[in-house]
Amino acid sequence: TRTPVNVTVTGAAGQIGYALLFRIASGHLLGADVPVKLRLLEIPQGLKAAEGTAMELDDCAFPLLRGIDISDDPATAFDGTNVALLVGARPRTKGMERGDLLEANGGIFKPQGKAINDHAADDVKVLVVGNPANTNALIAQAAAPDVPAERFTAMTRLDHNRAVSQLAARTGAAVSDIKKLTIWGNHSATQYPDVFHAEIAGKNAAEVVNDEAWLADTFIPTVAKRGAAIIEARGASSAASAANAAIDHVHTWVTGTAEGDWTSMAIPSDGSYGVPEGLISSFPVTCAGGRYEIVQGLEINEFSRPRIDASVQELADEREAVRGLGLL
Ligand code: NAI
Repeated sequence: TRTPVNVTVTGAAGQIGYALLFRIASGHLLGADVPVKLRLLEIPQGLKAAEGTAMELDDCAFPLLRGIDISDDPATAFDGTNVALLVGARPRTKGMERGDLLEANGGIFKPQGKAINDHAADDVKVLVVGNPANTNALIAQAAAPDVPAERFTAMTRLDHNRAVSQLAARTGAAVSDIKKLTIWGNHSATQYPDVFHAEIAGKNAAEVVNDEAWLADTFIPTVAKRGAAIIEARGASSAASAANAAIDHVHTWVTGTAEGDWTSMAIPSDGSYGVPEGLISSFPVTCAGGRYEIVQGLEINEFSRPRIDASVQELADEREAVRGLGLL
């Protein structure tokens, strides 16, 4: 029998945590034959609720779940971790400036990065979900110099899935017929969902849509502002869809992309497509053997270039801001 994989979830008592943990424990993250041990990290005020969630996990009698540890100490929660899902973050509250937000999150992601550096398993893979996700991932990565930088990723898979769904709705295609869509840049309102290389049942998606005004004025803002629309409708931010995207991100990273398709992940840039090296920016990637590679050689047209550049500029500005705060 296989040794269990250690999966750490931070912010485990939050709403994404509640939607995420049961799917990890039932085998959707790593596969139906991979036993898991869960490590839940919370702040002291969240520990009791995390214990309640752990009781429910017990009550599911999941055959793959080999243990649950709960802690408010990052060194304990990341000890031996193979997959770290960094979900807990400091939300922007009323009157908070962007600099305050970055600083508050630096106070979370810097020590967590250090704890991953000092205690995680050699093969650790990290996904940052907590916002501002790309820059939080950069802060954690910078605090973990002994871990290969490429193990630190941030989530744009929810944006990717939203874009696939919107494109399917517009064209009447099945979501499974849509391939090679790309989210570029930051997980923020500046993100750029690119359909120019996407395919719908083998045909070029931009040609099938054949309506640049729809792309510019409807598709892109609908995808970019979907989070706000969910809050408006549900009275709470996206949780189940965010958890689902986190499952998809790690599952694809570990098990690979399908032949003839790719996915979107925010990863440390190697300078491809003019994205400054080291920024954690979303790219089209293929995955195989537990590793990812940026899809190379795509032609970036006049519609796409300024949109990618604007989102990347926002990331560069965030990097400067956290550098100024001494977080890098
Ligand atoms: P939530 O507020 O329901 O839960 C957050 C949890 O994190 C709370 O239980 C809190 O106690 C905990 N927490 C705070 N600081 C912590 C720390 N230092 N260590 C451990 N736990 C800590 O929030 P929700 O809805 O679960 O969202 C979590 C994050 O995910 C937010 O930052 C949200 O903006 C982000 N998000 C990102 C998405 C993406 O696509 N990248 C999509 C949706 C949400």
